[in-house]
Amino acid sequence: MAALKKTIQLNNGKEMPIIGLGTWQSPKDEVKAALLAALDAGYRHIDTAYSYMNEDAIGEALQEIFKSGKVKREDLFIVTKLPLIHMDPKLVKRSLELSLKNFQLSYLDLYLVHFPIPLEYDGDDTNVVPQNESGNWKGADKWDLLGTWKAMEDLVDLGLTKSIGVSNFSISQVERICKVAKHKPVTNQVECHIYLPQTELVEACKKLGITITAYSPFGSPGRPAFIKQADDPVVMEDPVILKLAEKCGKTPAQVILRNLIQRGMIVIPKSTNPERIRSNLQVFDFSLSKEDMEEIDKIKTRHRYFDFMGAMFKDHPECPW
Ligand SMILES: NC(=O)c1ccc[n+]([C@@H]2O[C@H](COP(=O)([O-])OP(=O)(O)OC[C@H]3O[C@@H](n4cnc5c(N)ncnc54)[C@H](OP(=O)(O)O)[C@@H]3O)[C@@H](O)[C@H]2O)c1
Repeated sequence: MAALKKTIQLNNGKEMPIIGLGTWQSPKDEVKAALLAALDAGYRHIDTAYSYMNEDAIGEALQEIFKSGKVKREDLFIVTKLPLIHMDPKLVKRSLELSLKNFQLSYLDLYLVHFPIPLEYDGDDTNVVPQNESGNWKGADKWDLLGTWKAMEDLVDLGLTKSIGVSNFSISQVERICKVAKHKPVTNQVECHIYLPQTELVEACKKLGITITAYSPFGSPGRPAFIKQADDPVVMEDPVILKLAEKCGKTPAQVILRNLIQRGMIVIPKSTNPERIRSNLQVFDFSLSKEDMEEIDKIKTRHRYFDFMGAMFKDHPECPW
């Protein structure tokens, strides 16, 4: 069985754990127990975002964990994201400081630009998705991508974050950054699973030395109703995955995660259920053969569960898909 390292080296030499705990939609009153279960199980990487509005609850849990002596700050890899309302270069540092205050921390391990289209900031830091009269997100017309990136680089130089990266960026957007970057993005966090393998983006990022972090590896079955359609395909119920799970004596979730990490990706499955949190980490004691991987590659179904974001901004010049 091919031994798999549990961390991946980033283009700045730092090591990032390849499995992290996702926390989108983890309610404040559940995320603390989830975090404790995750750290006990061996997770050392936590993925959140300012816009998930749970950084403060995560911060409280972290402080409790540090006081207990179970885990030290330097053993963790904490990732959060610049909200769409704070993408004006003048707002970037202050935004990171708001996140640090929420976490009660002095630095982050990784700070990501959440999405390549800014939303209009109305001065209210809690209104993370301002909407117009028709209920659509209120996008700002213009965006200085490289100006925002320069402001992100300053955060590294100030020691406020060890690494910086992007999320939901297209190939051309990462290429534009890499052409001028002092600090290259270490990762591009994108939707990626068996129905959206992102082959071209993965290859392009690899050439640039940028890792891929796969979000919604299970197809985000708990996503809110407004992004669900009755006929959406179900990643966890795919016949190829069910067959391989039976063959390997593993769960469908474990096969799905193992496939992504064998493709060289970082994965951030979300759960608040302690049993599922533990089992999602049990992917280092088996492997998928070349034939198993090829069988997954041949799955024809294609689906982007987060299509609504692209649809909302389809006329914006920076729309990534
Ligand atoms: N950058 C971005 O724009 C972006 C967008 C979306 C997500 N993300 C990040 O990626 C993380 C993961 O994506 P996601 O939350 O959309 O979806 P996901 O990880 O694909 O799926 C999470 C859902 O699967 C369930 N689940 C977890 N483990 C399971 C298992 N072993 N068996 C059966 N069901 C299981 C969870 O329920 P329970 O909690 O009840 O276990 C939850 O409903 C997010 O939490 C967030 O940190 C980033």
